[in-house]
Amino acid sequence: MKRREFINWVGLGFLASSLPVALAACSPETTTTASSTSDAATQKWENVGTVAELDKKGQLLVSDSPVGAVLVVGTSKAAQSLIAVNPTCTHKGCTVAWKTEKNQFVCPCHDAEFARDGKVQEGPAEKPLKTYLAKIESGSVFVKTA
Ligand code: FES
Repeated sequence: MKRREFINWVGLGFLASSLPVALAACSPETTTTASSTSDAATQKWENVGTVAELDKKGQLLVSDSPVGAVLVVGTSKAAQSLIAVNPTCTHKGCTVAWKTEKNQFVCPCHDAEFARDGKVQEGPAEKPLKTYLAKIESGSVFVKTA
């Protein structure tokens, strides 16, 4: 084997053995795994108050919970139908209030109305309220990102 042929063989072998490593480094799988791990971390149940606080008024407003501002509506007697939203109005940021008689959230600033699921029913707000899953466990109220 001539010297030039030998160098070509070694170069080709190096290239062939490096290709899988290079492909693995560029693979989006690494990124996906990292983001799904962080999604799982942000989707854990967070304690936002006690059942006693919720049952007292039929709603529980917490402005600084681990998930941010949250308004939970309901009581422990109907725990399966708890509603939980971020009460920050998507129009200009006022805090919406739950109106039992209207069965909706109403903003006191410009009268935007939101359904139980956070969807806009009446403007001027154009975007829905952020919603959370809610549950009661061991005397506490928990929410997590839906
Ligand atoms: S801030 Fe809520 S409707 Fe304007």
